[in-house]
Amino acid sequence: MSTTQIFKNPRAKHGFKGRTCSITSVGSYVPERVLTNAELEKLVDTTDEWITSRTGIKQRRLAADAEFTSDMAAQAARRALENGGLTSDQIDLIIVATITPDMLFPSTACLVQQKLGARRAAAFDIEAACSGFIYALEIGQQFIMSRTYETVLVIGAERLSSIVNWKDRNTCVLFGDGAGAAILQHRPDAHGLLTACMGADGEKAMLLCMPGGGSRIPATADSVEAGLHHLQMDGKETFKCAVNAMLNAAQEALRRCEVDISQIKLVIPHQANRRIIDAVSERLGVRPDQVFVNLDKYGNTSAASVAIALDEAVTQGRIQRGDLVLMVVFGAGLTWAAAVVEW
Ligand SMILES: CC(C)(COP(=O)(O)OP(=O)(O)OC[C@H]1O[C@@H](n2cnc3c(N)ncnc32)[C@H](O)[C@@H]1OP(=O)(O)O)[C@@H](O)C(=O)NCCC(=O)NCCS
Repeated sequence: MSTTQIFKNPRAKHGFKGRTCSITSVGSYVPERVLTNAELEKLVDTTDEWITSRTGIKQRRLAADAEFTSDMAAQAARRALENGGLTSDQIDLIIVATITPDMLFPSTACLVQQKLGARRAAAFDIEAACSGFIYALEIGQQFIMSRTYETVLVIGAERLSSIVNWKDRNTCVLFGDGAGAAILQHRPDAHGLLTACMGADGEKAMLLCMPGGGSRIPATADSVEAGLHHLQMDGKETFKCAVNAMLNAAQEALRRCEVDISQIKLVIPHQANRRIIDAVSERLGVRPDQVFVNLDKYGNTSAASVAIALDEAVTQGRIQRGDLVLMVVFGAGLTWAAAVVEW
């Protein structure tokens, strides 16, 4: 462990007989096709000026016709494996966070297992919407900490273009496709994932949802006609909840680690809306150079959002070994989470 420790490891209480869990490599993938705000102007009654000023988004990526969530997830995973010098047969467990699985079952994680040839790996999906990647990190961490597994692959992947209503200007301008992956392992002499504060509020479940396609409203001609298989959102209310939940989760995570925000090298927030990021950043008291933003390029990619951002931050050299990183997310459920990581 670091000799000059300037934070507390909350997992070390009660004697801590488990192992620490580090993110030992990351990778991401976004599809080639770029959809610009100018192109959206031709689809719905909107303008580049409105989208840019209200959201900060300039463009997003769209999966190709025959490119599905599992394909993007597998691509991101291959890059994470390559960056970590690992082969797929070393993976013990694959967790995919997604709200746009290839199909309701089998899990997208099983399809990824097949694509990677990771025959030894157990595989399952989790669904916590845009908070999914940090939820999945925390779940994966438990298997490393408990010495159950050596190598866990965690992926956030979405093909949101398949559930967006391309006639609804309130929502279609916000979302995009992509995937990000992280390899979790025990790294000796590192604290890794120090804490992850997760929360949920099912009272507000209907603020952001897709009503059709599950057991409550199976697909019928009527449900399709009524638009129930598209994402629906109360944008204004979601916005307010997002700011409050992300702020509270981030503050709680920092408090648990006895870390001041000034000690955080980089904050990686969920990339939903520039104004949400700015409001949370301002209330947290972070400098602009401490905050990673890439939503101008990709829009909101839900569970993939912080996973892609984390990979880009690492690639750009914004995070070095030993730096403290704060990731904070919010999504449908409602769900939220904040994680502090010693990189
Ligand atoms: C969706 C969001 C960008 C809308 O921004 P806003 O400032 O709240 O805008 P409003 O809802 O007040 O809408 C203002 C007007 O713009 C219109 N509008 C909505 N989308 C538009 C678009 N793409 N182009 C042009 N006008 C648009 C609305 O119809 C409304 O018009 P009206 O006043 O005539 O009714 C914002 O609420 C938001 O980002 N919410 C959170 C969404 C989110 O992040 N969800 C995922 C969470 S993980």
